[in-house]
Amino acid sequence: MENRRIAVLLSGRGSNFVAIHEAIERGDLEAEICCVISNRADAVGLERAREFGLDAVCLPSRGMGREEYDRLLGRTLEPFRPALVCLAGFMRIVTPVLLDAYPGRIMNIHPSLLPSFPGLHAQRQALEYGVKISGCTVHLADEGVDSGPILMQRAVEVEDGDTEETLSARILAEEHRLYWRAIALMFDRLASAT
Ligand code: GRF
Repeated sequence: MENRRIAVLLSGRGSNFVAIHEAIERGDLEAEICCVISNRADAVGLERAREFGLDAVCLPSRGMGREEYDRLLGRTLEPFRPALVCLAGFMRIVTPVLLDAYPGRIMNIHPSLLPSFPGLHAQRQALEYGVKISGCTVHLADEGVDSGPILMQRAVEVEDGDTEETLSARILAEEHRLYWRAIALMFDRLASAT
């Protein structure tokens, strides 16, 4: 039986995690969320994971170096044996310590059409630049900030009068339609590679 377990790493609201969970519940995505890990105890996403009856782990990162934290993450993930690790609003940069443990299997979602506007406040960056089209990207993680091979993207038009809030909300709605599809694509790729 093919391993279709996914681990979700988050730091906050967790709406992308909920959208992935819902896609699985609807039967649109054949997968199993094996654990949800947050580096913040107050992450709403962690609470939602508990409500869904999923394994929810709080792994505080405060005061830890990146590599030290990734070693801890790696040890925590190992018993769950995820085929994919999905970063969903996880506010830490992953290092080779984690990347090498899951080569080509760590995904991230970002609220812009990469390579434009990586980093924080991508929607604000798009508005300040004055682009007419923005969107969202799911890509494989690497050592950089929101870099790594692109898996899927969706465009969102910037409308006259858009604020950071209105544009973010329309992009987020597309993120929720995109991430589970990119996970399905990854499972297809992994299956055809074996
Ligand atoms: C999303 O906009 C995602 O693209 C970015 O962080 C935000 C997380 O939102 N990486 P949520 O926690 O999934 O609601």
